[in-house]
Formats: sequence, structure tokens, C-alpha cells
Amino acid sequence: MKAPKKKTAAAAVAGGGALLHHKAIATQEFGTVRRTLPIAIDADARQRTVQLLNQVLADTMTLRDLYKKHHWQVSGPAFYQLHLLFDKHFEEQSELVDTLAERIQTLGGISLAMAHDVAETTRIPRPPRDREEAAVQISRLLEAHQIILTECREFARQASEDGDEGTNDLLISDVVRTGETQVWFLNEHVV
Ligand SMILES: [Fe+2]
Repeated sequence: MKAPKKKTAAAAVAGGGALLHHKAIATQEFGTVRRTLPIAIDADARQRTVQLLNQVLADTMTLRDLYKKHHWQVSGPAFYQLHLLFDKHFEEQSELVDTLAERIQTLGGISLAMAHDVAETTRIPRPPRDREEAAVQISRLLEAHQIILTECREFARQASEDGDEGTNDLLISDVVRTGETQVWFLNEHVV
């Protein structure tokens, strides 16, 4: 008698989604870092830095989404200008999100990714679902920027103390410098 053929994963998918609801065992637990990684930063230091970076990541994802909300909902005499400006800043924040997430993976950690986890982690206050006037939108964005700028400068110092100048550079050269420029553009609308 022939042994029954084993179904391959590809065959199962082709056969109509037999792999749906597949419960896999995690290959790495959130909050841990790979113990061995030859980048000359010890695992404990990397674990501390990853935790800080996940905070900045959650806050940057929130700021990114706040820009898109305001891009869609803005109204008033400066509509066109702000509509374009908010989207430009959204694009720049999206770049930062990818840079931060990939830095976390580079350090052997696991980056936050999903909205549920971001909502539980961010320090930026939740805005209402309602439409708000442009001045309120800008004030909300400035507050969010200030939260990120404050924590980034502190975290950059901690990363340096842990011998992680790469993370220090990313936080200052990318996140802080981009944030400061965006604050400049927003702030000129309200002075
Ligand atoms: Fe758009």
C-alpha cells in the first residue's frame, strides 16, 4: 500500500486556504533581543535601547497618523496650503517609522507594528474623531512633536552611554532634525 501523500504548504494554499487560522509558535518573544549578534554592543544594552526605540516608534506612528487625519480634515482659508504641508510631513514621518523599526530589528529586537499596540504604548494624547479647526490641529501637532523631541534627546544620551552611537545618530540626525524642521513650518502658521 502506498503511503498517503503529505500536503505541502503551497498545495494547501492552492487547495483553498487550509492554512487559515494557523497558530504558529513565536520564533522570538516581544521584548527580547537576539543574544548573539556580532555588532559589538552587548545584549543588555541592546535590550534597553530597543525598549526606548519602540517608544519613539509608537509616538512617531501616532504623529504620522495625526498628520494624515489633519491632511484629510483640514478646512478654512489656508486649506490648500495646509492640506499639502500636512501630507508632506506625513511622508517624512512615514520614512522615520521605517528607519526606527528597522533599527530595532538591526539591534536584534522586535519592533511594534500594529495599531492596537501603538495605541497602548504612545504618550501622545488621543485626538477626538471630530473635525477641528486648523489652529487646534496645529497646536495638537506641535504638542506631539514636543513629546517626541523631548524623549529623543534623553534617549539619545542613554544610547550613547550604552555605547550605541548608531542609535544616537539616528535619533538626533533623523528624528530630532526632521521634527525640528517640521515644527518650524507649523509654528510659522501661528505666529
Ligand atoms: Fe491625500
